[in-house]
Amino acid sequence: MLSEVLLVSAPGKVILHGEHAVVHGKVALAVALNLRTFLRLEPHSNGKVDLSLPNIGIKRAWDVAGLQSLDTSFLEQGDVTTPTPEQVEKLKDVAGLPDDCAVTERLAVLAFLYLYLSICQKQRALPSLDIIVWSELPPGAGLGSSAAYSVCLAAALLTVCEEIPNPLKDGDCVNRWTREDLELINKWAFQGERVIHGNPSGVDNAVSTWGGALRYHQGKISSLKRSPALQILLTNTKVPRNTRALVAGVRNRLLKFPEIVAPLLTSIDAISLECERVLGEMGEAPAPEQYLVLEELIDMNQHHLNALGVGHASLDQLCQVTRARGLHSKLTGAGGGGCGITLLKPGLEQPEVEATKQALTSCGFDCLETSIGAPGVSIHSATSLDSRVQQALDGL
Ligand code: PMV
Repeated sequence: MLSEVLLVSAPGKVILHGEHAVVHGKVALAVALNLRTFLRLEPHSNGKVDLSLPNIGIKRAWDVAGLQSLDTSFLEQGDVTTPTPEQVEKLKDVAGLPDDCAVTERLAVLAFLYLYLSICQKQRALPSLDIIVWSELPPGAGLGSSAAYSVCLAAALLTVCEEIPNPLKDGDCVNRWTREDLELINKWAFQGERVIHGNPSGVDNAVSTWGGALRYHQGKISSLKRSPALQILLTNTKVPRNTRALVAGVRNRLLKFPEIVAPLLTSIDAISLECERVLGEMGEAPAPEQYLVLEELIDMNQHHLNALGVGHASLDQLCQVTRARGLHSKLTGAGGGGCGITLLKPGLEQPEVEATKQALTSCGFDCLETSIGAPGVSIHSATSLDSRVQQALDGL
């Protein structure tokens, strides 16, 4: 087992195109959002495993000897298989959580215990670890925060147990794992997601593991070979949304007006494919005309999503405010409120970006400048921290 401190980060995600259409068998493009979750793992010898999640006020510790003496044979040995409801029930006993424990806390702790016990059970003795996870991602906003959490946990636990090598070499500030190791990280992260969400599609953990942009089509996930990092504004309208109800609403509209709604879904599919083509061509040196195409695709999809009935007055306001400044926005994810994205063209002056953010903030929205197409799960040097990690650590 490794004895050094590990510092890992993984990105959140947004859907660039194809939300809702994907439910009806069309293509969706999901991209890594450069708002990241960070995990610091320190092996120690105090006989405890500590988990702190400062963003959601969780601090828990278990005696390693106590966990060791439990019968965890109910967890699969070796291979990665789906956690069953019975396993999750048994984990609840292991966790020792009070009955009135909030759902977010319960799920975060259960996913941790599942991954810790399953990944570390091959060690002669369960390791004593101090783990802290914090995030730049708001939880529950459809930005893949739980997947980034599971990806960080899987990467750090597999590395500390030497199931995969630490790719960080002397003098590196940051590095990534090999394709094969990323596949293993992604498999375990999917298990964590299953503990949290029951039956997730696997897109969120895949984007968080691989980074860049992914195409999702009828359960098949593939990475776009070349995708540029694009600057965006991410705006959270803070209007609560209910994904299940919105998905049901689209289904009902499709049943009621098949001749009208089916072509909308086909058109959204074509938008995703066209976007995929343009992103592939943009490569290292994107041309202004390519940004114009991306903007048109954003506008058309936003109108389609409104026609599907998943718009909201807050999202209309977001589009109007940015349109008045020559910028193009669409909702991302389920709609009905939630988040929207605005594409920032290169060459846009910073004061103009700031003025737009200001205008959106004065609508009562949270607005952040970030990028999409960000790198996937990464390991950082714990001694020469970049300013972003240091800032986050200082803020804890
Ligand atoms: O905002 P999110 O991550 O919950 O996105 C929902 C995306 C939908 O296409 C509306 C639903 C789905 O399961 O794909």
